Amino acid sequence: MKKTIGVLGAGTMGAGIAQVAAQSGHAVILVDSNNQQLEKAQASLAAILSKLVEKEKISAAEKVAIENRIQYANNLEDFAPCDLVIEAIVEDLAVKNAVFHSMELHVSKQCILASNTSSLSIASIGSVLENPDRIIGIHFFNPAPLMPLVEVIPAVQTSAVVLNDIVNLIRSWNKTVVVCKDTPGFIVNRVARPFYGEALRIYEEGIADFATIDWAMVQFGGFKMGPFTLMDYIGNDVNYAVTESVFQAFYFDPRFKPSFTQKRLKEAAYYGRKSGRGFYDYSAGSSMPQPTMDEKIGRQIFDRVISMLINEAVDAVFMQVASIQDIDVAMTKGVNYPKGLLAWADEIGLEEVLLRLEDLQLIYGEDRYRPNPLLRKMVRENQTFY
Ligand code: NAI
Repeated sequence: MKKTIGVLGAGTMGAGIAQVAAQSGHAVILVDSNNQQLEKAQASLAAILSKLVEKEKISAAEKVAIENRIQYANNLEDFAPCDLVIEAIVEDLAVKNAVFHSMELHVSKQCILASNTSSLSIASIGSVLENPDRIIGIHFFNPAPLMPLVEVIPAVQTSAVVLNDIVNLIRSWNKTVVVCKDTPGFIVNRVARPFYGEALRIYEEGIADFATIDWAMVQFGGFKMGPFTLMDYIGNDVNYAVTESVFQAFYFDPRFKPSFTQKRLKEAAYYGRKSGRGFYDYSAGSSMPQPTMDEKIGRQIFDRVISMLINEAVDAVFMQVASIQDIDVAMTKGVNYPKGLLAWADEIGLEEVLLRLEDLQLIYGEDRYRPNPLLRKMVRENQTFY
């Protein structure tokens, strides 16, 4: 028998996760305290599935079957038949703790309780449970039905059986699973920070404008989007909040320092595409600024950002956040990087990456640019990642 899946929160993420589970053949119980959100989720699912029918990706009968698998409800009691509940409500520990405490009273002893949190520790969410070995992080990416990556995060309390069951279950949903330690930002939101932070720093130093930095990363790195275009898509409010939370969670490590440039945009409500203005102006009639296309500067920008990204990926290996393969897979499947950063490091040459970082550290005298000890060790021992 297919497991019954509960999803708490019918917002952006919860609605998407419910769709993924229903498309994988599970009975789904989608709970939200707000009826309007439930109605919105139901209407948006119908529209998405209709598009899939139009494109002949699914049949009309399948659409009906998927829709019929989802039950919309208001109360935690409705989770009683569930084998797994994935929580996707507001990113607030006090609210999540209250909900997990009550939820446990209404589900079976075996029911696994998961959170889709991006920034809170899974250990802190599970701390309120009577049976904390059933807590686990299952971190989807937005939009959940389209993004292949799922980070699975066992907390210190999580049992090996629960971890194993969840990895197998999420794989059966045709997702690429990476397992990572319960550390701030997990893999993607930690390793990706320099893509934004170093680009902002380069801008703040007056080395190049937004359009030129974006051009450099696309032209020389093969990234689908430059950092400023991407931040405008994500929303400067959201992206700034993640940066600030990772910075705080790492005890204010200067590698993760947020930027005033982005903070001011957030304060001015220049969120990006959704507000019509961010780093760029999206209002009707406005045209996008053109990059300088100076190859020498472009190359320097790319070399600097990619070296910082690689240093972060190396740190994730050094701190045993995840395996080398999982760190590379996470960045290609979670944020569409053209290559895994550790494979990229091998390609550039670890010695070259180390030299660039040492150079930056020498020039700036900042801890932000310190090369990771593992990188130094690997260069000394003439090793590669693959
Ligand atoms: P959202 O604001 O779109 O949806 C949250 C939903 O939870 C709303 O429908 C709200 O009515 C409901 N809700 C709030 N408190 C509730 C309660 N006590 N009981 C029942 N329902 C309640 O939020 P979003 O963006 O879907 O995020 C949800 C979670 O997923 C957060 O923890 C967030 O950090 C995480 N996340 C978000 C991503 C994103 O790109 N938006 C990506 C990955 C994770």
